[in-house]
Amino acid sequence: MNSDNSNSIESVLQEQRVFSPSDDFASKSRISSFSRYLEMSEMAKSDPNKFWGDAAREELHWFKCFEKVLDWSNPPFAKWFDGGKTNISFNCLDRHLSSSIADKVALIWEGEPGDQKKYTYKQLHKEVCKAANALKSIGIGKGDLVALYMPMVPEAAIAMLACARIGAPHSVVFGGFSSEALRDRLINGEAKAIITADGGFRKDKVIPLKDAVDCALEGDSCPNVESVLVVQRTKKTIAMDKGRDYWWHEIVDSQSEECLSEEMDSEDCLFVLYTSGSTGKPKGVVHTTAGYNLWSHLTFKWIFDIRENDVYWCTADVGWITGHSYIVYGPLSNGATTVMYEGVPRPSKPGAFWDVIQKHKISIFYTAPTAIRAFMKTGKEIPDQYDLSSLRLLGTVGEPINPEAWIWYRDVIGGGKCPIVDTWWQTETGGVMISPLPGATPTKPGSATFPLPGIEADVVNSDGESVPDNEGGYLVVKRPWPGMMRNVYGDEKRFRESYWEYLKPTDNKYIYFAGDGARRDEEGYFWVMGRVDDVINVSGHRLGTMEIESALVSHESVSEAAVVGRPDDLKGESIVAFVTLKTGAEANKNIDAQLKKHVVNEIGPIAKPDEIKFTDALPKTRSGKIMRRILRALASGDEISGDTSTLEDRSVLDKLRN
Ligand code: WTA
Repeated sequence: MNSDNSNSIESVLQEQRVFSPSDDFASKSRISSFSRYLEMSEMAKSDPNKFWGDAAREELHWFKCFEKVLDWSNPPFAKWFDGGKTNISFNCLDRHLSSSIADKVALIWEGEPGDQKKYTYKQLHKEVCKAANALKSIGIGKGDLVALYMPMVPEAAIAMLACARIGAPHSVVFGGFSSEALRDRLINGEAKAIITADGGFRKDKVIPLKDAVDCALEGDSCPNVESVLVVQRTKKTIAMDKGRDYWWHEIVDSQSEECLSEEMDSEDCLFVLYTSGSTGKPKGVVHTTAGYNLWSHLTFKWIFDIRENDVYWCTADVGWITGHSYIVYGPLSNGATTVMYEGVPRPSKPGAFWDVIQKHKISIFYTAPTAIRAFMKTGKEIPDQYDLSSLRLLGTVGEPINPEAWIWYRDVIGGGKCPIVDTWWQTETGGVMISPLPGATPTKPGSATFPLPGIEADVVNSDGESVPDNEGGYLVVKRPWPGMMRNVYGDEKRFRESYWEYLKPTDNKYIYFAGDGARRDEEGYFWVMGRVDDVINVSGHRLGTMEIESALVSHESVSEAAVVGRPDDLKGESIVAFVTLKTGAEANKNIDAQLKKHVVNEIGPIAKPDEIKFTDALPKTRSGKIMRRILRALASGDEISGDTSTLEDRSVLDKLRN
């Protein structure tokens, strides 16, 4: 177990201030006092079926109402809203068309080279219907998995909603993953079609997405893939395989603007999204229709306290869960205006984010701590050049935020007046689980504060027993919630073992193990410390050390590899790889560069090791297990503490120290 904590207690202790919502903010907000939050939590706890049932009936449209709120008779497999029929695309679009929301802007897209598009709900509905009809025309129907490998263009959101509309689960693969990583996901998910683009603009480069798709499909490696839809974005010349590849504009534009939503069962699969775990290849997290819809909708409404005129912007990529729940589904289900930005800040455009905020008068801004730390480093002079006065609420997600960054965010970006919601959640949870409610919760910088109503989070030991205040332990959830993942795609065993059977509660109850360490203070505030498994969090991106190790050992010169995270001021963690080479291979700059490139090819640039340390041998126990604790200490230059008596060969340690 990894006891690293990026949110060290010393840094937390330096900041003792508590920030309460201003009277003005609270008075206008939906949940406007802490006592109201407590009341809601109590209601949810005392009668969860009523709480969730009422919420589902009030917040969603149903073709047919459900018969049962929760079926937990076969844990850990939950069924929510069984017997109901609904469609998330209908909930995000059609149901708004009979109100004034029809002509409200649903999506503002800011393209990287400076182009821009806006869609009202009415227009977005038409585009989604056309795309849905196009998918049908190439033989995609209910239950067929469609992979998306897209840049941040409106067609990405349109494609997701189109898939949902016809009941075809989508599986979005982040455009920064390599063709190898894409292939693994296509094979595992048995994708029948892919939606991609001729390329994407990323930083100051063009990413050849279609070439990567071609490479992933080479030979007969993905026999299930029958067709590829290609959005024209960069206008770079690409190869088109006749009979397999279709231009999006050729096949979509001519379709009818009407397409009825498929009436989906509550538990029909909505999407599969791959994420890293401690063992093996990434796992396909399965989310289903109604529960996910309710959870992304409700959490968005509560946490961002959405009001009619808000312009909301989340800077994530749609390739991650944050993009799914809080760029597309949560905002649109609520009838909000959501912004999608294709670019990222970089030395040539350091004020890129602030420019978007100023230009579109963003009122709610949601980003990652790693971005905030990077902005702190380049200095407040950059944001100071922009008018950020439209902001009223700020959010963070993806990793623990250090109090210093929290305060900077509040003062410099929020002008001291915006509440901050530090939201803890995961791909698996579907939506936010622990977060302040901006009009209700007094916040402590660095703490995600309290679980949302209905979420029974706790900090426990390995027997599943609650630990005393301020004592660290495992973060768990003790009761099912609507947005919970339903399975690991094609791997029930892994679902059980990774999440539900990892801790062994003495009463045999099923509790959800999140993989994070946390502590709860004497006032009940949760402080998430970071992963306790072999998952690392690099710039808010979640990576399995095993995945990077497998990539390294697939190189012909590598005999063994062990990867660990090293605390990093900017990125949260950086990647350090310990590598032993095969006899005959020599440790030098050349092989160092080759191995880094190899990992980029196997996984993608986000997994590139920051440092490779070559060694003759790795520290192992007598039973042959690599002692990662020792490697982590070595990587960070820390003292090696704890027991080293199980080391098979102590001389390895001395060599590594040198
Ligand atoms: C981490 C991203 C501390 C955590 C939504 C979790 C956080 C993992 C926070 C999930 C936060 C996310 N404070 N840690 N506010 N938010 N994490 O699946 O380690 O990409 O387990 O989902 O990110 O990453 P994932």
